[in-house]
Amino acid sequence: MPINDEIKKLREEIDRHNKLYHTEDNPEITDAEFDALYARLKKLEKKLGLIDSSPISKVGSKPSKNFEKHDHLKPMLSLSNVFNFEEFNKFEERINKRIINEEIIYSVEPKFDGIGISLTYENGNLVRAVTRGDGITGEVVTENVKTIDNIPRKIEQGAPQNIEIRGEIFFRLNDFEKINEQLEIDGSKKFVSPRNAAAGTLRNLDLVTVKQRPLDVFFYGLGGHSLDLNIQSQKEFLKFLEINDFPVNELVSFGSKEHARESVDQILGSRDSLSYEIDGAVIKVNDFNQQNKLGFVSKAPRWAIAWKFPASEKYSKVADVLFSVGRTGIVTPYATIEPVLISGANISNVTLHNLDEVKRLDIKVNDTVLVKRAGDVIPQITKVNAEVRDGSEKVVNIPEFCPSCGDPLKEEGPFLRCDVGMKCPAQLLGYFEHFVSRKAMNIDGLGTKINQHLIDLGYVKEVADLYKLRKFETELKSLEGFGEKSIDNLFDSIESTRSPELETFINALGMPEVGESTASALARHFKSFDTLRLAKYEDLMQIDSIGDVVARNILEFFESDPVGIDNLLQELNINDFVVSELSHLDGKRIVITGSFNEFSREEIKDIIKEKGGVPSSGVSPNTDFVILGENPGSKYKKAMELGIELVTEDKIKNFLKL
Ligand code: IVH
Repeated sequence: MPINDEIKKLREEIDRHNKLYHTEDNPEITDAEFDALYARLKKLEKKLGLIDSSPISKVGSKPSKNFEKHDHLKPMLSLSNVFNFEEFNKFEERINKRIINEEIIYSVEPKFDGIGISLTYENGNLVRAVTRGDGITGEVVTENVKTIDNIPRKIEQGAPQNIEIRGEIFFRLNDFEKINEQLEIDGSKKFVSPRNAAAGTLRNLDLVTVKQRPLDVFFYGLGGHSLDLNIQSQKEFLKFLEINDFPVNELVSFGSKEHARESVDQILGSRDSLSYEIDGAVIKVNDFNQQNKLGFVSKAPRWAIAWKFPASEKYSKVADVLFSVGRTGIVTPYATIEPVLISGANISNVTLHNLDEVKRLDIKVNDTVLVKRAGDVIPQITKVNAEVRDGSEKVVNIPEFCPSCGDPLKEEGPFLRCDVGMKCPAQLLGYFEHFVSRKAMNIDGLGTKINQHLIDLGYVKEVADLYKLRKFETELKSLEGFGEKSIDNLFDSIESTRSPELETFINALGMPEVGESTASALARHFKSFDTLRLAKYEDLMQIDSIGDVVARNILEFFESDPVGIDNLLQELNINDFVVSELSHLDGKRIVITGSFNEFSREEIKDIIKEKGGVPSSGVSPNTDFVILGENPGSKYKKAMELGIELVTEDKIKNFLKL
């Protein structure tokens, strides 16, 4: 079959299966079969340079579009914390002041360290999955959540008209490690923790990637619901969940205040043997009537509390203290330690930040140290155990010369600095890693190992050399550990970044203290790279988010030009920043209801998104417009009640400026 015909056929097939899977919940083929079709299409399209109208671009790899927003029926609250028995006692006393002469039973549950989710079932059918967001409004991530097999698509027994069921999405530790191993092989950045991986996966727009990662879930909370649900306590609710096959954690128990205290200890005791991370226990008043009597203070209920466990920490031994050179020339001390597993991550290097920290800890090689890691926080050495020193410890030598290029180092306050710039291989590597990273030019297939090779072999002496790598095609393909295919993919990936958006390029330049949001502000303000490059101090200071230090950094960066901008510009074609004349929709929340003759709802949604608007599914006081088709239903009524501006079909073109 000619390639073009095969592509056409594959696109239709994939569209059809996408629909069967996501809209109708009725897949005809297995995930593996779907992935094979997808891989074949991707390959053929790459060959012909076609991507635009393909289903592949719809599940494209770079998250750029926003998720739809949706208001929760009942807000998703947070919990107040206690850290010890005294604080728990106060919580319990406050409850007893408000509920007198009644027995109070508590539920005790693990506090899962994942991402909160709220599922809505209407007439028993799963219709929506929404993240917590700000507690009032979250993001609709239904498709991603549906990749989790053990989430029931239907409530078979006792389904009310509608119900919000809440739980926590997470990765098991072994799955998290596998994901990171794969990311490493792919040359992509690894996730710092299982929680971070779950957040990244839940909000990933590439469904193929999401499907490859086995997200998991426990349910524990009842949100808003219709009055035909008759459940009076947390115990009854968890029973309801179990009967309907929702995963509920097996460590949950019920009992008196004394029981609660013992259960917290038990949960803490089993923490290290669990296959997932928990960061505490949640204690809730079991009876819903009592919960209602107790009510809320600001954003947390009075009837529940999180008993937080201390951050995980373990002892290890310092094998060495070394110094690494970053892209800006700052030389940072770090300890290599005997590897320890803390909160799901295998830790063998711990930063020591700067010379002051080395002095403060009085750390020596061979010392026994306490390593702590809380959630997403990078590991820290919190204590040197000086009591167990046996005389084998060696003082840390502060280097006088750069460990990478050998030039003399300068001391700048608590920092050491090498100011050789890109001629220092470590700075070039650091810079190069930033330039190609996901948030910058987003070039797949460049992990630290290959980057190091490219620099060691002299193929990359400055960043612009990245775009001339084809010269070394034969040499690269014969490098051990890099297959022909992965080098071909790498070339494709590099080529696809030759016309970056202005803000992407500014961010990729890696000017000190200019991250994504400043890069975006600069792009909006100056519109073209040439204008930015010619900007004076006064011009830069006109931007609200830019102060004296950042303005000076930018000027100094262009002045010293550590990266060879002209050479880079020879290779790239940077898009100017275009302000859409239709930015009247920028950030506006728009609900679409009813059916239309001229457009499909999907089309309207896509146009809104293109123009910076946010299609939303529920009408709330935050809604800016409601686009009204035929037979609009209850959203129309609600919009009228709230006095929200309506756009009828005859006005759509005008409204969208089509
Ligand atoms: S109950 C009003 N139960 O912790 C009740 N939350 O810090 C609030 N969480 O947003 C939630 N395990 O994402 C509850 N067994 C559990 C939980 C739990 C984890 C999360 C949840 C919540 C956050 C509050």
